Amino acid sequence: MDWPCEGLARSPISVGRLYDMTGTLALSTQGGLPVPIDESGLMKQVRKKFDLALFGAPPAFDQPVHVGRPNVGDRADFLRQVDAMFDRLWLSNNGPIVQEFEAALAQYMGVRHCISMCNATIALEVAIRGLGLTGEVIVPSYTFIATAHALNWLGLTPVFADIDPRTHNLDPESVRRKITPRTSGIIGVHLWGRAAPVEELTAIAREHNLKLMFDAAHAFGCSVGSRMIGGFGACEVFSFHATKFFNTFEGGAVVTNDDALAEKVRLMRNFGFAGFDNVTEPGTNGKMTEVCAAMGLTNLRNVARVVARNRENYHCYVRELNAIRGLSVLAYDERELNNFQYIVVEVASTFPVSRDEIVAALHAENILARKYFWPGCHAMLPYRQSQPGAVRDLPHTVLVADRVIVLPTGTAVDERHIGVIRDVFACLASYAAKNTASDERRIADPVDVLTHV
Ligand SMILES: Cc1ncc(COP(=O)(O)O)c(C=O)c1O
Repeated sequence: MDWPCEGLARSPISVGRLYDMTGTLALSTQGGLPVPIDESGLMKQVRKKFDLALFGAPPAFDQPVHVGRPNVGDRADFLRQVDAMFDRLWLSNNGPIVQEFEAALAQYMGVRHCISMCNATIALEVAIRGLGLTGEVIVPSYTFIATAHALNWLGLTPVFADIDPRTHNLDPESVRRKITPRTSGIIGVHLWGRAAPVEELTAIAREHNLKLMFDAAHAFGCSVGSRMIGGFGACEVFSFHATKFFNTFEGGAVVTNDDALAEKVRLMRNFGFAGFDNVTEPGTNGKMTEVCAAMGLTNLRNVARVVARNRENYHCYVRELNAIRGLSVLAYDERELNNFQYIVVEVASTFPVSRDEIVAALHAENILARKYFWPGCHAMLPYRQSQPGAVRDLPHTVLVADRVIVLPTGTAVDERHIGVIRDVFACLASYAAKNTASDERRIADPVDVLTHV
């Protein structure tokens, strides 16, 4: 099929020329310039091929619609806390706002200890070191690169296990196959906020005398078996990066029920200082600042509102996209608590347009959809070089990484955005189907027949 190049799609085009080309594209104009049709910034309807920006029309939105646009709670609440902070002149070093934030999070998750950090990457490093992991640690390849890098930075070897293609989480059988005499631990990742197979991983860890911890960067506000994520394994690590549904600008936390580990992590977060002039651990600087904790307290009071919007958006995406053959939105188990922060769409090999072509078409519309965790950690340069054979054992990682698109959600997105996204998918599908009726360029793959949990 003949796709126009991205450069052409992005090139400015006059309204007059658009009408010449399509005869039908309805654009509202002011002084000859297109203006949004509504306050979502929508510029046009997408009904057929020449309505697509990929073919020269203007983008669907006047401003970029991002994945991970920050959700921010009550600004006045935040600013009041910052004002009080300036009055105290206590800006960092375990100040009162950090202490209040940690207590609030521990209570929210039902855990004994929450140690806030400057970000989740440092929190992972401190937790890994605090747990005393050595040698090889088993992690999924299908995760954000920080999970692997945290091990690498400590001189440990991340050993990549495959995922279950239905859940995108670690496949316990693959984990078993990766255990060697050098293995000291497992880091499960609750990908997309959907719980890793906690029970199975706990059983494997017990059986082989391995330490188990979780990268819960996506899973704030989520539960498994009606227990909040945060209390599983030896500890769990959260990210509060600006793009996460709950943010502290930058930030993270180690959460644990283990008193001794909590004490160690607290010391390590602050250079190992056990008191003035007394260093007892090889620490780092992982401290959260007061202003970040204030943002956290403000946003904690906003979590229910954000989750409600995310849930609405998720249901809308499910309705609209699952109706299109070859697309499926990864399902959340609604018997559990979910934050619904990731809208993960899988593009089956039966869909007539490739995942990358869809992403390019959406970008041309100013909808900044993302491929996520592609091509997998194992295929990134540092690990590709050190573990060249890993790919052989990761067929589901490769498959899923090649077919996933993550779409925008959060408080900046509503059904108007989702409707346009659906129209873009539908328009691409019908145009491509007409043009590729006899095109056998794709090979059916077995995972197409799997249903999603
Ligand atoms: C699974 C996972 N782990 C770790 C991190 C690192 O988090 P941070 O950006 O807070 O360092 C992220 C960030 O996106 C992530 O998605």
